[in-house]
Amino acid sequence: MKNRFIIAWLLVILVACHSEPKGWTDSYYLKTGDSLSALAFQTIRGALQTAIADSGVEKAIRFCQLNALTLTHQLNTDSIKIERLAERYRNSQNHLTDESKAVWDNYKSKLAAGDSLQPVLVHTANRVDYYKPILLQPMCLTCHGQPNSNIPASLVATIDSLYPNDLAKGFSVGELRGLWQIRFQLP
Ligand code: HEC
Repeated sequence: MKNRFIIAWLLVILVACHSEPKGWTDSYYLKTGDSLSALAFQTIRGALQTAIADSGVEKAIRFCQLNALTLTHQLNTDSIKIERLAERYRNSQNHLTDESKAVWDNYKSKLAAGDSLQPVLVHTANRVDYYKPILLQPMCLTCHGQPNSNIPASLVATIDSLYPNDLAKGFSVGELRGLWQIRFQLP
């Protein structure tokens, strides 16, 4: 845990100190994107596992509702914004945008063709956007799998009461569940 925060601060300092007018190389954005998405994922997964172990899945869902966005955004800086986006979202604030939809569609076709999915960069005039796919893992099924088989009926009811417009059930392991989007604002 301590190490994670030290790495996070080193990244923040690294990013805050970057002053090259035209931004950095692709390899800088890919490396920083990889590190930030891995850290954000570990932070959310760690907090979720602790919440499940301490008080069970029902309460962990409520914990997610209160904290998932704050945890996602906690490594943000003035020039870096981290989001977790999805086509079939649970929280509508995580919906795909027009720009991320193109990346999403590309990942979907690659997955269907059996290709491996790699992080990508999208350059625009004043931004570089890093994207990384989030694939569904076995531990995610309890809250995102098939209702009444993977997700117990009582949990389905809790999810539906907290998220009446939930679209994020019915996934299988290995499916494209979401995207990390890390947006680097150029100076
Ligand atoms: C304890 C239940 C639970 C588990 C286990 C769980 N999630 Fe979620 N997940 C949620 C909830 C609740 C939200 C909505 C959070 C919010 O309101 O911001 C969510 C949101 C998400 C989102 C953001 C997009 C959206 O739908 O709003 C992604 C991506 C995601 N989960 C992926 C995963 C993956 C991958 C795993 C497994 C590694 C996982 N989840 C495990 C409950 C869970």
